[in-house]
Amino acid sequence: MIFPENFVWGAATASYQIEGAVKEDGRGQSIWDTFSHTAGKVAGGDTGDVACDHYHRYRDDVRLMRELELGAYRFSISWPRVQPDGSGPVNPRGLAFYDRLVDELLAAGITPYVTLYHWDLPQALEDAGGWAERDTAYRFAEYAEAVHAALGDRVRDWATLNEPWVAAYLGYGSGVHAPGRRDPAAALRAAHHLLLGHGLAARRLRDAGAQSLMLVVNSAPVLTPAQVNDPSAVPGAADAAAAHRVHALLTRQFLDPAVHGTYPEEVLEAAERNGGAAHILDGDLELINAPIDLIGVNYYNPCVVEAGPGEPADAAWPGSEDVRFRAADAPTTAMGWPIVPDGLSRLLLRLSEDYRLPLMVTENGAAFDDVVEDGHVHDDDRVSYLEGHLREACRAVEAGADLRGYLVWSLLDNFEWAEGYRRRFGIVHVDYATQARVPKDSALWYRDVIRRNGL
Ligand code: FCB
Repeated sequence: MIFPENFVWGAATASYQIEGAVKEDGRGQSIWDTFSHTAGKVAGGDTGDVACDHYHRYRDDVRLMRELELGAYRFSISWPRVQPDGSGPVNPRGLAFYDRLVDELLAAGITPYVTLYHWDLPQALEDAGGWAERDTAYRFAEYAEAVHAALGDRVRDWATLNEPWVAAYLGYGSGVHAPGRRDPAAALRAAHHLLLGHGLAARRLRDAGAQSLMLVVNSAPVLTPAQVNDPSAVPGAADAAAAHRVHALLTRQFLDPAVHGTYPEEVLEAAERNGGAAHILDGDLELINAPIDLIGVNYYNPCVVEAGPGEPADAAWPGSEDVRFRAADAPTTAMGWPIVPDGLSRLLLRLSEDYRLPLMVTENGAAFDDVVEDGHVHDDDRVSYLEGHLREACRAVEAGADLRGYLVWSLLDNFEWAEGYRRRFGIVHVDYATQARVPKDSALWYRDVIRRNGL
């Protein structure tokens, strides 16, 4: 199975998950500093204070990427390094880190893919209402422009937001992520303001000459239990309606406004039932509908639902009344996430059809309970996860999806949000006591995939 010529192969990380150095060079506080330092929020009381110490070890990490022959590296910028309080003049020492990182990557022949927001909102903006406030969208656009002004001479590929669904609904709905609020109306407002921030930032970056812009979403095929193992299963009307609604809440909520300039009616109805839609102003959809070049797709597992008459809405899913979320009948990773590789091909084909844009898998990977033996990690389970998903990515290409690249999550084991360090997603093992990096078998396997541009 060979991928198209010029297919982009790489790995992804995010600032708070790997950098550490949270008090250095004028960095301000983010909502993840506050959240992880609040008792009971993160497994084991873990924080990103040190993480992989990438802030100091980035040169070694780039060398490792080169040894693994990665063509691309997707990382995110920590907003509070650039603007400690989320607005106003930039902090040159914070920006200088990314400047050095980009130069190091380019010198190693690795293309930088910059994500501007991977969840570390400056705490000062959260104190003013966070993403539930409209003003945050405007602050984000200013920040985006400032980062582009510093790196835009060398960085061609930009993503505005990572997974706005997660930022809005786990951050403000279920509260399992920072800032830990549990308010469905605030979550719906946050989702809209994230989208507005995306549109405003995309316009500014484009005006400033950015060549390639994308929005990165966590998407998944929404399936009924029977469809997990049998794609041809035809669900009954009530189950099909439940899946249709959840698909609107998960994926169409973000991609319809960004790509088509419209909201699905399911989202407007969810807003009407949760505080109203007065925060969606005339003209917002036009602003959100800024041209993008690619859709970034983060895929881990399908979403499985059925009709559940009388079920209240899940805290993370305002608008999901009368839906029952189900486990999939499939083996799981250490996160308990079902392994359904052909969910990826089903998803890529659906997105191609609905949005007709080039796609990139910006995250895909798995956590397993790795063991180091004599300096090796024989993570066959991760290799088979990746191989299964790459096979499906290739099938989607053969069936017509315009897939431009694949970035594995993650380069390094890292701070896995509410799960802390106990979940390891890296293709490179990190010993947090010594900061030693050991490429797992999956990293060496992935290098060979890259070499032959396929499986
Ligand atoms: C995604 C996040 C990423 C990582 C993976 C496992 O939702 O974007 O930071 O935590 O999940």
